Amino acid sequence: MQSVCLYKEHLQQFVSDDELANISGEALKAKETLISGTGKGNDFLGWVDLPKEISPSIISNIKNDVANLSPKARLFVVIGIGGSYLGARAVIEALQSEFAPMTQGDHPFIIYAGHTLSEDYYFQLLQLLESHDYAVAVISKSGTTTEPAVAFRIIKAHLEMKYGKANAAERIIAITDAHRGALHSIAQQEGYRTYVIPDNVGGRFSVLTPVGLLPIAMAGYDIDKLLRGACDMRDICINNTSLDENPALMYAAIRNILYRKGRKVEILENFVPNLKYISEWWKQLYGESEGKEGKGILPHSLSFTTDLHSMGQYVQEGERLMFETVLSVARPKKRVLIPTDAQNLDGINYLVGKSLTEINHNAELGTILAHVEGGVPVLRIEVPSIDEYVLGQLIYFFEFACGVSGYMLGVNPFDQPGVEAYKKNMFRLLGKPGYEQ
Ligand code: PA5
Repeated sequence: MQSVCLYKEHLQQFVSDDELANISGEALKAKETLISGTGKGNDFLGWVDLPKEISPSIISNIKNDVANLSPKARLFVVIGIGGSYLGARAVIEALQSEFAPMTQGDHPFIIYAGHTLSEDYYFQLLQLLESHDYAVAVISKSGTTTEPAVAFRIIKAHLEMKYGKANAAERIIAITDAHRGALHSIAQQEGYRTYVIPDNVGGRFSVLTPVGLLPIAMAGYDIDKLLRGACDMRDICINNTSLDENPALMYAAIRNILYRKGRKVEILENFVPNLKYISEWWKQLYGESEGKEGKGILPHSLSFTTDLHSMGQYVQEGERLMFETVLSVARPKKRVLIPTDAQNLDGINYLVGKSLTEINHNAELGTILAHVEGGVPVLRIEVPSIDEYVLGQLIYFFEFACGVSGYMLGVNPFDQPGVEAYKKNMFRLLGKPGYEQ
């Protein structure tokens, strides 16, 4: 089975074998801390065994919901923010056509809400929902987050007006805590179908729970394959103690070596626009897990070659504060070849017969060589192709490496105390009872 691989061939002048050998004990210790559940935040380690232990009844309930709602809904609105929507969006956007038809197809087209407070966004969304049949998943672990609560109130009102209260209830699925939170109470009271987000899985690690699985399945993708990929990567991450055999350990070790040498920014780069939301999910995973106590690599992302024409200059010649991790895709799903043109007015006949992937791979290698020359360490993560299995592997790889890397950094990778600060100010400014002071 082909696997996600980590390559460090462009790191030689930045990270020595001795440095890797010196840090390997620390990486291993962090891994043991993670697996044994003896580190900070150990009440949020449910994700470690999730792909192996997820109950078959959850999977079959998800499939039943998909079978039941798909014929009734052209659109499926996923309401959630941060960890409650980014994982699903990352997988769906990686797999779907860039030009996915919103109004045709066997499965509902997934659209998102609850991740913004923009009035224009909701006006436009309601206009769209007027003319299409739709269903909704409202996702919030705490059940009290303002953005999805506001979105759900607006969409629930619209849904009830459109279908009547009882029929609307059949088009709503709530994914939330088993016992607590306003969303839990609403779901109970209104009789919605519900899924539970396990207590011991934090938002940004929840993509392999119903939080991610339900929307991904609703979009028509194979969640069994996704979980199989995650399971196989789990085995690799848990069973291998050598950096060379364990890509997650190697990634965590290299990140920490570079960070300690002053590389405070990591840029995750793709050469395939479908992976843009993988980067968004990754930024949350690493930013929220490591950015605390005045520490942490700042996760940034770029989509190449597009951003080579905007940010390429900075990466090549600006402050040397970053390293790059290139997410490289070996094979496309389909081929597009450069056609011949007798006149050759554009001067690109030297590319005739080449596939776009060949050209893109050369752009990638050319970029890596230029940036290394410019003094930027470059790591490469190669995926064989983009499918559910590989995405499951990639998700688990990044999660496991994040836990190890966070422990190596000396922080609790599983809390997010800083996220509350803006909420308190917003509540006070909006006059929420209890926040007057
Ligand atoms: O990873 C996290 O914990 C956060 O990003 C949350 O997922 C996000 O704040 C949404 O929280 P909730 O699911 O409670 O609405």
